[in-house]
Amino acid sequence: MPQIPYKTALVTGAYSGIGLSVVKALTEQGITVYALARRADRLNSLAKQTGAIPMVLDICDTDELYQQLTGLDVDILVSNAGLGVGSTPLHKASREEVTTAMNTNLLAAMHLINIIAPGMVARSKGHIIHLGSIAGLYPLFSSVYGASKGGIHMMCQNLRLELKATPIRCTEICPGRVETEFFEKHTKPLRWFRKL
Ligand SMILES: NC(=O)c1ccc[n+]([C@@H]2O[C@H](COP(=O)([O-])OP(=O)(O)OC[C@H]3O[C@@H](n4cnc5c(N)ncnc54)[C@H](OP(=O)(O)O)[C@@H]3O)[C@@H](O)[C@H]2O)c1
Repeated sequence: MPQIPYKTALVTGAYSGIGLSVVKALTEQGITVYALARRADRLNSLAKQTGAIPMVLDICDTDELYQQLTGLDVDILVSNAGLGVGSTPLHKASREEVTTAMNTNLLAAMHLINIIAPGMVARSKGHIIHLGSIAGLYPLFSSVYGASKGGIHMMCQNLRLELKATPIRCTEICPGRVETEFFEKHTKPLRWFRKL
């Protein structure tokens, strides 16, 4: 097993699905993990299970995000928290669905980089990992969700250019379907899925 040069990580959307697996994998490697999500009870049981440090926070609360995370030194940022609320067609979506999807999936991810990356650059060490989606690369009947993940894709492409003079790495992971709570809630109801 190669030596991992990183010691600390922040994982958003930490206690379920992909985030949970990431927290387990990182803590098993001896990395100190800050596990961020909104529900304290589930985060606390994750902390007991893995030794991760719970951070109860809504990433859409921008003021709180800057207040709690500014100055937090982490080597790995896994920007994973995301919602599929944008899977309603745009012409049928509510104003709230559009705003929530964009705030959670794209804007919060951008604020997180704005908060965390300066420390990585100053310490010349870091890896920023984003959970994008296949829906951000190809049309999948989800203009709102697709736009939020398409934004992640373009942000990652540009981030690599902006950080190219530094040793900071930027990785985008674009899953297809992963059977998580997200999948159960947001993808199964889609009509075109039922036809498959
Ligand atoms: N599953 C798939 O098929 C699939 C496919 C492509 C891409 N993805 C992407 O992969 C990522 C993880 O998805 P998943 O399937 O693992 O989803 P999941 O099981 O539903 O987990 C999502 C996590 O995000 C957290 N979260 C949501 N809104 C938040 C907020 N405002 N503030 C803080 N935490 C928040 C949730 O916790 P709380 O609700 O307690 O905050 C939860 O821990 C997402 O970005 C998703 O778009 C998933």
